[in-house]
Amino acid sequence: MADPGADTGSVGKTLRTDLPHPARMYDYYLGGKDNFPADREAAELAIAAFPNARVAARENRAFMTRATRYLATQAGIGQFLDIGTGIPASPNLHEVAQSIVSDAQVVYADNDPIVLTHARALLTSTPQGQTAYLDADIRDPAAILDSPELRETLDLARPVALSLVAIFHFVSDEEDLHAIVRRLVEALPSGSYLILTHGTADFDPDAEAFAAAYRKRGLPFQLRTHTRVERMFDGLELVEPGLLLAHRWRPDDDGSIPLRDAQVGIYGGVARKS
Ligand SMILES: C[S@@+](CC[C@H](N)C(=O)[O-])C[C@H]1O[C@@H](n2cnc3c(N)ncnc32)[C@H](O)[C@@H]1O
Repeated sequence: MADPGADTGSVGKTLRTDLPHPARMYDYYLGGKDNFPADREAAELAIAAFPNARVAARENRAFMTRATRYLATQAGIGQFLDIGTGIPASPNLHEVAQSIVSDAQVVYADNDPIVLTHARALLTSTPQGQTAYLDADIRDPAAILDSPELRETLDLARPVALSLVAIFHFVSDEEDLHAIVRRLVEALPSGSYLILTHGTADFDPDAEAFAAAYRKRGLPFQLRTHTRVERMFDGLELVEPGLLLAHRWRPDDDGSIPLRDAQVGIYGGVARKS
């Protein structure tokens, strides 16, 4: 008998609406509408453990916008590979990049069938630019690098910004994270960049209870220290001001009320391949 919580997407992958998905929980933290009761219930339990979850999600997303804007404006980057894209939330990376570099090319990749069903919203583009979507897992970097979607959209002879924003805390230590980053970065020419964010409990031990709330639901979630996250940038030159809590990285001077470090719990950094 068909599972009442299951729905088959157009690509034949099974979507579960009765189980929480990290992409939909994140959508809920950001105030989005693409989530179901199971996601909201799991997200509320995680928020009860770490009441700053919404602030952290918002600051993570704001960092992605600033880092993309910085690379498009200051480094002339017009090609982006964004792995762990999430459900669309305006402004999406290609919208930020193409508002500055109108012919920017963007490849999105995510392994969640829910994100795939939303891919159409990510595939808008300026007439001069291009976006593509790839259903892929970061644990198989070769499949991403060899995909026709990537090969037809990005020119790997020219610098690319690799965006790994809020993805690696969903990847356990059983995987060799450094080898994954290395494999992806090796495929990019000098002058390319890595944008990366990652959750941490360095400033608030309650963040560990947040991660535990995911694990209790069978969803991998692993917070890491500054030292561990910084190692992901090995061999690259961190752009000033280095790897900091996301809200401290080149903040916009928008007059908003300053946040406490414990509210954010997400490191963010940008580094250049020389
Ligand atoms: C918290 S969301 C981040 C979305 C967006 N990058 C942002 O920061 O606003 C994490 C995304 O990573 C995706 N993800 C988790 N593990 C992944 C994996 N092994 N391969 C590809 N995507 C993954 C999830 O499906 C989810 O959409």
